[in-house]
Amino acid sequence: MSEWFEDEVFWREVYPYLFPEIRFLGAGEEIEKLLDLIDFKGETVLDLCCGPGRHSVALAQKGFSVTGVDRTALFLEKARALAKKDNAAVEWVLEDIRKFSRPGAFDLIVSLMTSFGYFEDEQENLNVLDMMYRNLKEGGIALFDMVGKECVARHFQATSSTELGDGIIFLERHRIYNDWCRLSSDWIVIENGKAETFTFSHSLYSGREIRELLLAAGFKEVKLFGDLDGGEYGVDSRRLVVAAKK
Ligand SMILES: C[S@@+](CC[C@H](N)C(=O)[O-])C[C@H]1O[C@@H](n2cnc3c(N)ncnc32)[C@H](O)[C@@H]1O
Repeated sequence: MSEWFEDEVFWREVYPYLFPEIRFLGAGEEIEKLLDLIDFKGETVLDLCCGPGRHSVALAQKGFSVTGVDRTALFLEKARALAKKDNAAVEWVLEDIRKFSRPGAFDLIVSLMTSFGYFEDEQENLNVLDMMYRNLKEGGIALFDMVGKECVARHFQATSSTELGDGIIFLERHRIYNDWCRLSSDWIVIENGKAETFTFSHSLYSGREIRELLLAAGFKEVKLFGDLDGGEYGVDSRRLVVAAKK
């Protein structure tokens, strides 16, 4: 049976909610902060699950040699259009991350906006960590931005709703399952009295869990932060940012 993230229609339909203009406007600043955070001196960058390419393009504009990988054709089309508009050269690869392999090719691999942990079979998520390790050069860095288990525990709201304007109501429902290993979310868009539901899920990692998994994959040093500014991963953090050095 195919998994939720393999459904191109899902990504097409959620695109306006997942990627409002403001997300594109903020990408350059996110990249500046991320590069400062790790004091990046390398040249080659892999944007894993690059989506519509907002970070890949920002990285290419800074002069890095960038590869963006994603399995959703529609998003790579948007990424190509963005690169063309911004005059940025990026290598785009339409591929499932389970099949992508370039041993020792990258100084930096980024996985941003909770793009890690989608596979229901946890071994497949661990295989991604192995793949990231293999594809990095010695001394290279894997950088994750995700919602941490502690963030979810602290801020959990089973149901919430937002008015998006034009009479559109956006409902979110969240459910923890598999003994706190996974989070399942429903996004319900109500427009003109009709409701459409989009369901997705991903694994949840505590700071300690992701650190131990990365060390087990071979990484030498793992640092945790609560944001891209380098703030502490503490009780009020909304994000878990992880920098792992090979
Ligand atoms: C939440 S979006 C984040 C996109 C991007 N990192 C950003 O911050 O704009 C997750 C992305 O992961 C991609 N994706 C999910 N599973 C994948 C897989 N197995 N192989 C490649 N791409 C995948 C989706 O197509 C989608 O573009």
